[in-house]
Amino acid sequence: MTNPLIDPFARAISYLRVSVTDRCDFRCVYCMSENMTFLPKKELLTLEELDRMCSAFVRLGVKKLRITGGEPLVRRDIMTFFRSMSRHLETGDLHELTLTTNGSQLEKYADDLFAAGVRRINVSLDTLDEDKFAKITRWGRLPQVMRGIDAAQKAGLRVKINTVALQDFNEDELEALTDWCASRDLDLTFIEVMPMGDLGNEDRLGQYWSLKDLRARIAERSPLIDLPESTGGPARYVRVESTGQKIGFITPLSHNFCESCNRVRITCTGEIYTCLGQEGHSDLRGPLRASESDADLEDAIRAAIALKPKGHDFDYSRQQIDGQVSRHMSHTGG
Ligand code: GTP
Ligand code: 5AD
Ligand code: SF4
Repeated sequence: MTNPLIDPFARAISYLRVSVTDRCDFRCVYCMSENMTFLPKKELLTLEELDRMCSAFVRLGVKKLRITGGEPLVRRDIMTFFRSMSRHLETGDLHELTLTTNGSQLEKYADDLFAAGVRRINVSLDTLDEDKFAKITRWGRLPQVMRGIDAAQKAGLRVKINTVALQDFNEDELEALTDWCASRDLDLTFIEVMPMGDLGNEDRLGQYWSLKDLRARIAERSPLIDLPESTGGPARYVRVESTGQKIGFITPLSHNFCESCNRVRITCTGEIYTCLGQEGHSDLRGPLRASESDADLEDAIRAAIALKPKGHDFDYSRQQIDGQVSRHMSHTGG
């Protein structure tokens, strides 16, 4: 039995988020800039290397694996990787294999994902208005995503919608989105916008909106009951008493959840980031490629986790942005 991964603050690492590509077919304004330079293919971990990397983490006690990007489903042959990861579900070593997607390719892949053992997926969707959707994602088209969500539900996947709450953009639509999710039997999580990426030409402070206000607004329509449960992610959940609907809130700014952080991230080039909100990272691709045995890789993973910081420093109070991180969200997959 190997020793589990425990960080310096006694947090057990059981959740790995792996970005399989930095590319995406959308350009969401809070995630990417319009002109992104993507990595050359030779920099990426191959699918075999991704398999070795993830399998090492599973051996070290990771129970939940979330595939992210960029948009994970635009990586060529990605279903081969999902199918191969499903062996860890079969042995019981891995409890959940899942992904976060923009939904654009779900129509094509929903059945294959289900067949690979995926049961629950997160789909990003900030508005139900076609024009606004095109504006916020720059390149995305809403009907395609809607067909993707339909296909996912039809395939038997449980779908959670992720909505980034943006002042002056979707603020007035969030109750409508809540009702739409209830009518479609979709789970829903609202997210506070985080100061990541190139903020040069954007007003992230102006976009930020504390979810405490939204919670209060939803509570005006019906009492909310705090739920103790967790999916192993950072969301806190409430139940809307009148309808029974469950809503999640991810509030890195207004309520920091770092004390219970259980996750680390791997980029598509094999860097490990032990905190989404800090610049610190180390290379795992070197040790992975240096030897066919995984001993060096496991040592490098343990060394990285021994340096996991206490938490992020995001802060919009005092009317300025603090703790900003220069890399784009797409680099680490959220
Ligand atoms: P489930 O709880 O399993 O549904 O997933 P999740 O919320 O962990 O994953 P998802 O990919 O849907 O992420 C939703 C949002 O939470 C994204 O905006 C992430 O960037 C954010 N998030 C996830 N983990 C962290 C974290 O450790 N710190 C911060 N600040 N944000 C996080
Ligand atoms: N702040 C908060 N959430 C973000 N996402 C992307 N960029 C940001 C940001 N700056 C969300 C996406 C997706 C998830 C992985 O991260 O909407 O749902
Ligand atoms: Fe693509 Fe998701 Fe980033 Fe939007 S938020 S550009 S869909 S990776």
